[in-house]
Amino acid sequence: MAKIIGGMTTSHIPAIGNAMHDKLEQEPYWKRFFDGYEPVKEWLDEVQPDLAIVVYNDHGLNFFLNQVPTFALGCADSYQNDDEGWGIPASADVKGDAELSWHIAETMIRDEFDITTCQEMKVDHGFMVPMNLFWRDKPMAQWPKAIPLAVNTVQHPLTSAKRCYDLGKSLRKAVDSYPEDMKVVVIGTGGLSHQLQGERAGIIDVDFDLECMDKIINDPSWMTGLSNDYIMEKAGTEGIEVIMWMVMRGALNDKVEVLHKHYHAPISNTGAGVLLLTDAE
Ligand code: DHB
Ligand code: FE
Repeated sequence: MAKIIGGMTTSHIPAIGNAMHDKLEQEPYWKRFFDGYEPVKEWLDEVQPDLAIVVYNDHGLNFFLNQVPTFALGCADSYQNDDEGWGIPASADVKGDAELSWHIAETMIRDEFDITTCQEMKVDHGFMVPMNLFWRDKPMAQWPKAIPLAVNTVQHPLTSAKRCYDLGKSLRKAVDSYPEDMKVVVIGTGGLSHQLQGERAGIIDVDFDLECMDKIINDPSWMTGLSNDYIMEKAGTEGIEVIMWMVMRGALNDKVEVLHKHYHAPISNTGAGVLLLTDAE
């Protein structure tokens, strides 16, 4: 049977993509940030997952503002990246697993999540930066397969932390009922606090970020009780991306073990958090 062996979180800031491309990991500005990923990379080397489900938001590469699904699942055997104008070179295609995707789609729709299924899907920095952060030391042929799960955090009205958490529970049900032996990780991307435009551009709330990380681990019901307006007031308009971490959290048990936790701010305009969680027995 397929099994979720762990959940990870990470920010997906495009400047990280540039830093990896330019090999700046040891530069003073970047070192502490990148060091936060080393324990996760070591764990991944050890456990060798077969597939990663990447919960991310599209920033206008695949869905522009004229058509924005609330939840969209990639149902393809490969996913194309493209130039978004950040200066990060476009990557080769990432391998998918259409069969598992359709099984997830069937489970979610049965659970009354009316997701959009995408047999073609371009994946942007929200997806590629996390994949590179965790697997860039390996040639892409050795990366796990990946399934993109896009959550709209751009065009209002947006879904909620609670709905994302519940979607994670449906995702868990789907993976647990998939007959093929397969080790799966779920990655919640985005956040933490940041705002890229308007009068409050540049705000970061370290205390709120750290509180979110703690509660996501120990008391996810705190997070599911927050309104989007409150999250954006504290964490900025783009800080709302943190709701995507709740899909990962919903896919794990009520009690989790923390294998790694790291926070660094600022990177670019953002508070950047890393978590590696597994189900507590
Ligand atoms: C930044 C962060 C994001 O989440 C994003 O999508 C784009 C830019 C930033 O901090 O620069
Ligand atoms: Fe973003």
